[in-house]
Amino acid sequence: MSKIKLIVFVWILGLGKLLFATTIQSPSKNLTLLVGIDNAGMVHYDLIHAAGTVVQNAKMGFILKGNNLLDRDFELLNENTQTVDNSWQPVWGEVSSIRNNYQELIYAIRQKNTGILINIHFRLFDDGLGFRYEFPVQPKLKDFIIEEEVTEFKLSGNHTAFWIPGDYDTNEYPYTKSRLSEVDAVAKSEQHQEIATRTPIGKNYVQTPLMLKTDGGLYINIHEAALMNYSAMQLRVDAATNTLTAALVPDAVGNKVYMNTPCVTPWRTIVVSDKATNILASKLILNLNAPSVIEDVSWIKPVKYIGIWWDMHVGTATWNYSDENNINLETTNWQNLPANGKHGATTERAKYCIDFAAENGFDAVLIEGWNVGWEDWFGKWKENVFDFVTPYPDFNVAELQQYAATKNVKIIMHHETSASVTNYERRLQEAMEFMLTYGYPAVKTGYVGRIIPRGEYHDGQWMVNHYNYVAAQMAKNKLMLDAHEPVRPTGLHRTYPNWLACEAARGNEFNAWSKGNPPEHETILPFTRLMGGPMDYTPGIFQIKMNYYKPNATEQVHTTLAKQLALYVTMYSPLQMAADLPENYLRYPDAFQFIKDVAVDWQDTKYLEAEPGDYITVARKAKNSSKWFVGAITDENKRNATINLNFLDVNKLYIATIYADGATADWQNNPQQYQIKKFVVKSGQIITVPLAAGGGCAISLVPAAEEDVNGVPQYKGKWETNK
Ligand code: NOJ
Ligand code: CA
Repeated sequence: MSKIKLIVFVWILGLGKLLFATTIQSPSKNLTLLVGIDNAGMVHYDLIHAAGTVVQNAKMGFILKGNNLLDRDFELLNENTQTVDNSWQPVWGEVSSIRNNYQELIYAIRQKNTGILINIHFRLFDDGLGFRYEFPVQPKLKDFIIEEEVTEFKLSGNHTAFWIPGDYDTNEYPYTKSRLSEVDAVAKSEQHQEIATRTPIGKNYVQTPLMLKTDGGLYINIHEAALMNYSAMQLRVDAATNTLTAALVPDAVGNKVYMNTPCVTPWRTIVVSDKATNILASKLILNLNAPSVIEDVSWIKPVKYIGIWWDMHVGTATWNYSDENNINLETTNWQNLPANGKHGATTERAKYCIDFAAENGFDAVLIEGWNVGWEDWFGKWKENVFDFVTPYPDFNVAELQQYAATKNVKIIMHHETSASVTNYERRLQEAMEFMLTYGYPAVKTGYVGRIIPRGEYHDGQWMVNHYNYVAAQMAKNKLMLDAHEPVRPTGLHRTYPNWLACEAARGNEFNAWSKGNPPEHETILPFTRLMGGPMDYTPGIFQIKMNYYKPNATEQVHTTLAKQLALYVTMYSPLQMAADLPENYLRYPDAFQFIKDVAVDWQDTKYLEAEPGDYITVARKAKNSSKWFVGAITDENKRNATINLNFLDVNKLYIATIYADGATADWQNNPQQYQIKKFVVKSGQIITVPLAAGGGCAISLVPAAEEDVNGVPQYKGKWETNK
């Protein structure tokens, strides 16, 4: 591929300054990047898509502690471009091979009065831009503190945004769809007061990944890649100028980031396309992360699991063994504690779940509430709540591990840290040794509550380093990781493929005990939170209404049962839970069949149709298999999913098993009604499946040669005619 490097003079309208700009184009030339320095010595960039301007005249740079304005007075020292085109194979993923094709520009600048050197690395892909700042070793800059990063994303208009407010500690919010100019007013309103406690000053802040749509139909996603040794980037919205500016999460004393040269910032990412499906298919963030640091990856395996978990969320069992509340980790005699009779993690229940997992083909059982300390959990902000190695008296670790091994099932460890991170780090080695001794292959961590060291935030540099440290330590010990309540992912699972998933957003659990997740939620998550990596969303809830457990409960899952099945395909993760109680799956064995069948690792993925906040339809081909699975979901509006089967092998017949909403299904009024149809289908056909309000459909496609086609009707081309 030929290098494209143009030096042009560009007249920046509005600014009225002559800019000496460097231009590069993406491999297929649909994106153009301009970088230049104005006459105040400020670096600006423009990103232009064939279908419209994405970013224009946006400023770059920093303010360092000590009022050092590292955003002006720059001169260009040097610039280098190169074209890169290669591909790599992820350990697990949505596709088995990923192409990494971009035009690079390294823009080396020097601040004239201080002599400080920065190299800005730009990588322009066909689906977007990544850029990061590099501070090389230099005489004038060694240790420094970033007071502000002033990177701007100056947009071309007041776009529609899908956003959550700029909270330093949590991303467990429902998304709001609004114009950017409305962020401030909405963030101040009731709907965001549920969790918001420590939002930055003012409310005009949003978190990333931020999904935007222009009136001209361009989809833009802003996030970051490879967040290491830096704090998370939120965005300040200036509605008057349509400008988003980086806002870094501070530490306990108000500093943003501590840097020592040589060092780099995370990549700032702008994924852009005129097709929503291309945003979902983008591998830009993964491509910007470093390759795996784990050499032997043979022990890393995608996992489908069940758990002793939903029980506690719906209230049929407790994490705590006792109802005593005068508890102290160091002094309580756990053996003599009076049992409350509702403890979930008992040896007996665990064996039942292990049996259930073995019978139904699950890899593992997550068991929460197995270890002492839960009596003292929640809202205490105290240091020593858990030790991660002492089981409750009714939970026999050794016996269960043996039992699970005979059934070829693994037990997933649970470390709720209660956000007492100092305590967790002190005990981590011992906790991992415990896992190795008893053969636990994976751990789910959790960070509920306010961070200790007090004053630190979930999304600040100190905590970012903690999450990454845990991933690295687990990797060293060949242990897999699923982090709940961490900073949101930025593609680091490429570097640490043992880090299977994170929660870091509002999961299905909110439907059990809060006003829940609105029906559109799962149509937004793939465009926002999932841009950075897989989510442990915990789908598969069949018992939709919580009054099944408590007569007066009004809580419910805001989907139909069929949509819960579709989520296994639409919500990509190599770690998927069948989250409901085994007993509820036994009530609907034919629908449960889909959860048993669906793959958790893929060799190919085709996003067929999508619109953030409205619908997603995706088809995926299972790894090392000829089976395909399709998921289609809608928001609160009923609609038809259009599934063009042209991804199937031509000249092959497949048996499609379609798990669809029932004719009168509705997430609110009739959520558990579903219908299952089987047809013989082939490439070239289009299946149009009606989705109920809040509904969805899941399809498995198996080559006819691998199954008995006897008595299975041919698909006649229309859902209706097949009734
Ligand atoms: C919140 C997590 O998201 C949930 O999965 C877990 O059960 C609780 N914390 C307790 O650790
Ligand atoms: Ca959570």
